[in-house]
Amino acid sequence: MTSYQSAKEEIKNTADIVELIGQYVQLRKAGRNHVGLCPFHAEKEPSFTVSPEKHTFHCFGCKKGGDIFSFWMEYHGATFPEALRDLAERYNITISEGFSQAAERQKAAKREGLYRINEKTAAYFQKTLKHPAKGKAARDYLKKRSIPGEIVAEFRLGYAPDEWDGLVKDVRDHNMDLNGAVEAGVIVPGKKGGYYDRFRGRIIFPIFDLRRGERVVGFGGRVLDESLPKYLNTPETPIFHKGRSLYGLHSSHAVIRERERAVVVEGYMDLLALKGHGLGEVVATLGTALTSDHIRKIKGIAKEAIVVFDPDEAGIGAVLKSLPIFLNEGLSAKVVELPEGHDPDSFVNAEGLDGFLELLDRASSMFDYCLEKRLERSDSDVEGKVHAVREILPVLSALRSSTQRSLYVRRMAERIGVREEALLSELRTLGKNLSAKGLDRGLKERVSGAKAEKNYGDIQLLNLLVHHPDAAARLMECGSQILISDPTVTQIVGAFFEEYGKGETVSLGKLEESLESETARIKLREVFVGCSFYSDGEVEQAVREIERKAYQKRLSDSVKMAKGDIEGLNKLLKLKAQGPLRS
Ligand code: GTP
Ligand code: MN
Repeated sequence: MTSYQSAKEEIKNTADIVELIGQYVQLRKAGRNHVGLCPFHAEKEPSFTVSPEKHTFHCFGCKKGGDIFSFWMEYHGATFPEALRDLAERYNITISEGFSQAAERQKAAKREGLYRINEKTAAYFQKTLKHPAKGKAARDYLKKRSIPGEIVAEFRLGYAPDEWDGLVKDVRDHNMDLNGAVEAGVIVPGKKGGYYDRFRGRIIFPIFDLRRGERVVGFGGRVLDESLPKYLNTPETPIFHKGRSLYGLHSSHAVIRERERAVVVEGYMDLLALKGHGLGEVVATLGTALTSDHIRKIKGIAKEAIVVFDPDEAGIGAVLKSLPIFLNEGLSAKVVELPEGHDPDSFVNAEGLDGFLELLDRASSMFDYCLEKRLERSDSDVEGKVHAVREILPVLSALRSSTQRSLYVRRMAERIGVREEALLSELRTLGKNLSAKGLDRGLKERVSGAKAEKNYGDIQLLNLLVHHPDAAARLMECGSQILISDPTVTQIVGAFFEEYGKGETVSLGKLEESLESETARIKLREVFVGCSFYSDGEVEQAVREIERKAYQKRLSDSVKMAKGDIEGLNKLLKLKAQGPLRS
């Protein structure tokens, strides 16, 4: 057993931050750092930066950053104790329990409890599916749907018997907490007291997370007949968020990374059928529209997504809705259209994997697909074209990048045979609001750029300290703090000198911990992750420059003070006699 601090350090030192984050974000080398598309905000140009030297990541876009623990917490929505335990397990490091604050521990314990209940519940459903009598109808149903036994086992499919208290009894038998089971969403308190099972008479699909692969976060359940609702899900809980989960990702993650593409389907059954036929790189949404959360997970490991939707009006509507999300996230998207009346499940069972792969090969770009679909539906007369334009333009006006917008406008103009200018003016009317916002943003960027320019001296000093800590002694001695105009930098430099004064090497982690303001921590990380402004040969000159400036600043401050002040004058004379420290 190791203490919490040393375990944390040990994990940090053992982990390769580029390898770890690289599991979830495609990174490429850029100088000493690695960069990629940020998994925490929408972007098409990489501003997400990982520094292996500094054991740090930082996004210059959304400003999220920190060490591997911060990444784990943010990416997986986990608490710190969970992140610590996950990573300790991953790198085979033993940790003791008393490692974090009471509040954090409590939250983690609660979540741990939900995982435990889900685990027991999944086991109960699995057991019921195997039960000779109780599970027979469900087993027959799965057979009828051609789900092979290996898939049933791998995905831990189960059956919730058609009883009101099957699970309630099981929870009681295991001396588990009934309230916990209510919170996990698997049992429901009755109006007149007591509890009943949420899932009854349903095939159960446990949904897993990515943290450790095999942890159950929630369930989906399907009836065996035509009754309604056809599917039922665990409600939102602290560990289950429908709009963020992708069914099957835990199993497909590695294959998606390897093949650099993800096939996205709508249903549990579609996913299982494709898996059963040997397609590895597939995920399913849980009946919700694709969200940017989904797309960020995919773009972190794949170059493109191929979306397979039912060819009905609802399916096309869904594709149209997801188009701007894909475009804004910068993930290339294609669409496969299935023959009328098929969904991926029925298609792959009829035509086999080869038939499905052929469809994938013929997938078309999502934008072109949407455009064609709209044109196809409307007649080829002017009226029809206007109608198609009206449906696609709002999608384009939602795009953040104007370059991209004009690119698509051109493509659309060519395809429809109208002048680009006509579409652009239509777009302008439509996007008045948006362009005002865009202008605002542009202005803001320029203004903050100007501010950065003014504080350039601050940044120079900070950069020197962080990348050439050998110079710290002289910078401290000459009172360089007097030169700083940005209070945030004053905080950081102050904290740096304090750590440095203790005679220890100043690590980013310690410094970050000692800073109270988030703004200060962000600025510090940016300097750490960024490169040094000075080569080793230039450091001496830069330090002298700062010494000189600090001296002059004190001198001029003293002159101001000395006006009509004899004591001040004396001070000034003394200073003058000393001369600059080195010059
Ligand atoms: P079957 O092949 O009929 O078993 O279903 P499917 O998997 O093909 O599902 P379908 O195409 O009907 O719907 C796609 C997905 O939407 C399903 O897998 C569910 O996740 C979700 N879904 C469908 N119907 C319902 C419903 O009634 N309630 C909820 N919550 N989700 C549903
Ligand atoms: Mn189906």
